[in-house]
Amino acid sequence: MNVPLLDLQAQNQPLEPELKAVFDSVLRSGRFILGPEVEALEASIAALSGATYGIGVSSGTDAILLALMALEIGPGDEVLCPTFTFFATAGCIARTGATPVWVDIDPVSFNIDVTKAEAKITDRTKAIIPVHLYGQAADMDAVMALAAKYSLKVIEDTAQAIHAGYKGKWVGGMGDFGTISFYPTKNLGAFGDAGLLTANDTDLAQKARWLRNHGDVARYVHTYVGGNFRLDALQAALLRVKLPYFASYVERRRAHAQTYLQELSKLPGVVIASEADVTTPYSDLAAREQSAGIKMVLPIELSGRYHTWNQFTVRILGDGRRDAVRDFLRSKNIGCETYYPVTMDQQECFRSIGKGSDSLEVAHAFTTQTLSIPVYPELSAEQQAYVITSVAEALAL
Ligand SMILES: Cc1ncc(COP(=O)(O)O)c(C=O)c1O
Repeated sequence: MNVPLLDLQAQNQPLEPELKAVFDSVLRSGRFILGPEVEALEASIAALSGATYGIGVSSGTDAILLALMALEIGPGDEVLCPTFTFFATAGCIARTGATPVWVDIDPVSFNIDVTKAEAKITDRTKAIIPVHLYGQAADMDAVMALAAKYSLKVIEDTAQAIHAGYKGKWVGGMGDFGTISFYPTKNLGAFGDAGLLTANDTDLAQKARWLRNHGDVARYVHTYVGGNFRLDALQAALLRVKLPYFASYVERRRAHAQTYLQELSKLPGVVIASEADVTTPYSDLAAREQSAGIKMVLPIELSGRYHTWNQFTVRILGDGRRDAVRDFLRSKNIGCETYYPVTMDQQECFRSIGKGSDSLEVAHAFTTQTLSIPVYPELSAEQQAYVITSVAEALAL
């Protein structure tokens, strides 16, 4: 048996006739950049995010950069950023000339710990970027309350979590901007690089649209210095083919997550994370896990959330055990990966740029514990059973 971490062919093959038809139609339209296909996608994705505006862009990375530029974040400013994230979140802050300020995550949701964020606020802090990691919303009530208290702008990095829910709202619709990635591994994946920015404020959305196209407010009139962050019509058209199936893709991911929780939690030494531990100091949690002989902690959907499970990420405890399980699964042809083996504060390029490298103990500990296992929609029952049996074997070694 072979179980990849993600199987793009399995998703795309049934759509081949539809995908080819829209390819032909874009080819014949001669309209390859922005235009009606992009506008239609923008409206659909804004609706999925509960936001008023959608602005199609070239990638999730460019969406973050564009949001920061529209908010005029730059040299001298500080931006709060979880240290446990994909590089793009932090890289874009640095590219504006602002200083990323590293914040730890909580030990349950893998998302920014807002209490620890508050401790790092200075009079230079201009914005906070909650990342909705693995498909689960960060604690947006806490983020928005903090932002209101200190007049911070909020950019939701929604790259991994399109249409994840938070207390009846959708991610990307709560902050000043939401940034979405359609990178092929995402829950709604394009056929190349693509992204989208969501916004509710009319003026900010308009400014972002101008900045997307070199700050061109009218033909050859550049009020701002922007860039080329435009989205291709072809990517928008192909993504729109997938849109009607998107809800079922997510539901299948959710069903697989439930099966993992049900079956893996029966194994000796395996527990499901507890929501109460979101606020538990990590040293207490780690001591409790160690004395109970816990080998693996399964992720949870927190209350009030709609988790979209872009990744099903477990924590594997004990010296060297995570790497041993990973190697064992790979030897069984099961795809698995660690997101992220290195935190942002530990990156060479940020040694002289970032701030706040203290008190990042959860994120640092998790780099040696996390492992993501296959949860893609097309995963068959047989494949999932094989993953479960193999995890059981690996833990028994
Ligand atoms: C958390 C996060 N932010 C930003 C990005 C950047 O998106 P893209 O690859 O579309 O530029 C990604 C994904 O790759 C991501 O996972």
